[in-house]
Amino acid sequence: MSNKPLIVSGIQPTGNLHIGNYLGAVKNWIELQNSGKYDMHIFIADLHSLTGKLSADELREQIIKTSAELLASGIDPKETTLWVQSHVAEHSELTWIFNCVTPIAELERMTQFKDKSQQQAKNINVGLFDYPVLQAADILLYKGELVPVGQDQVQHVELTRDIARWFNKKFGEYFPETKPLLTEIPKVMSLLEPMKKMSKSLGLGHVIELADEPEVIEQKLKKAVTATEGGGLAPGVENLLLLLKQFSAQGGSTSGGSDDTLYKKFVSAEKDGSIRYGDLKTELAKAIGTYFEEFRKKRLELLEDRDKLGEILALGAKKARVEARETMDSVRKMVGIR
Ligand code: ADP
Ligand code: TRP
Repeated sequence: MSNKPLIVSGIQPTGNLHIGNYLGAVKNWIELQNSGKYDMHIFIADLHSLTGKLSADELREQIIKTSAELLASGIDPKETTLWVQSHVAEHSELTWIFNCVTPIAELERMTQFKDKSQQQAKNINVGLFDYPVLQAADILLYKGELVPVGQDQVQHVELTRDIARWFNKKFGEYFPETKPLLTEIPKVMSLLEPMKKMSKSLGLGHVIELADEPEVIEQKLKKAVTATEGGGLAPGVENLLLLLKQFSAQGGSTSGGSDDTLYKKFVSAEKDGSIRYGDLKTELAKAIGTYFEEFRKKRLELLEDRDKLGEILALGAKKARVEARETMDSVRKMVGIR
C-alpha cells in the first residue's frame, strides 16, 4: 500500500466509449495515472448498468468491450487497479450498510434520479433510486479521497461525503472525506444537436466512438450541424473547433504533444469569415482518425485475446478484493454484525 492520495472512479459499460467520455473522463484518468502521484483505482460499473435496459448478452459483451477500450486508451494495469465492480462482492455488501444510514429524502434530491426517471419512465426501479448509495460504497470501500468525474456526478460525490459523515457519527470515525476532482473538462456537444451534450442515448449519428474507422468519422462529421441561427459563433462550429484543438496535437493519444497551428488557422478564418466548414470537417476527421489509430489497433488485439483480457481483470479484482475485505472486516465489527 502506498501513501499517495487514493483515487477511485468508474464508468458504466453501457456502450462503446465516445469522444465525450474520453475528453470528459478517460483522458483525465490516464493523465492522473501517468503523473505517478496517485494510487489509482478504476472499475467498470456493471452493477450500476443493471438499472438500465441492456439485455444479459448485451451487458456481458459490453463489459468486455469497455475493459478493452480502457486498456487500449492507456489505462495500464501495472499502474492502475482495474476491475469489474461485480467481481468484488463487497461493493454490494457495503451498499446495504450505507442504505441503513442514508435518509430517503437525500436520495429524492438527486438530479440524476429525477432525469433518469423521466428518461425511463416505465422502469423506475429501486436500483435507480439507490444508485448513489452504491456509488458511495464503490468509493469508500477503498477509502477513496479523490474522485475524478464530470460535473454531472458531483452531487453523487457530495452525497458520498455525507454518507461517510453519517456512518462516522453513528459508528465512529472511519471513512475519509471524499472530494470530486474536476478538471477543465470541455463538455463535448452532439454533432447533430449541438445544444445537447454528446451522449450515446441520443443515437449513433450524434457521437464519434473511439473505435470508429476514419471513413465513419468522416461521414459522421459531414452531417454535423454548423448552421448559425442569428449572429455569432454557432454552437456546432464552436464544438468542432474545440474538438480540433483537442485532437490536432500531432502523434495521437500517446504523444501528449500539442500543436495548435491548425486550430488557430481555423479560428482566425472563422473570425474573418473565410472559413470553409467542409475543410474544417475534413481536417478534424483526419485529426481524430489519426489520434485514435493506435487505440483501434490495441482494442482489436485485446478483443481477439479474451483469455488474456480475463486474466488482467481477474488480477485487478484480486488486488481490489484485498482492500475491500479489509474495509468490510472493520465495518462489520463497527456496526455490530461481527
Ligand atoms: P453517456 O451520456 O454517453 O451515456 P455517461 O453518462 O456514461 O455517457 O458518461 C460517462 C462519463 O463520461 C462521465 O464521467 C461523464 O461525465 C463523461 N461524459 C459523458 N458525455 C460527455 C460529454 N459529452 N462531454 C464531456 N464528458 C462526458
Ligand atoms: N455514476 C457514474 C457515471 O454514471 C459511474 C460510477 C459508478 C462512478 N460508481 C462510481 C464514478 C464511483 C465515480 C466513482 O458516470
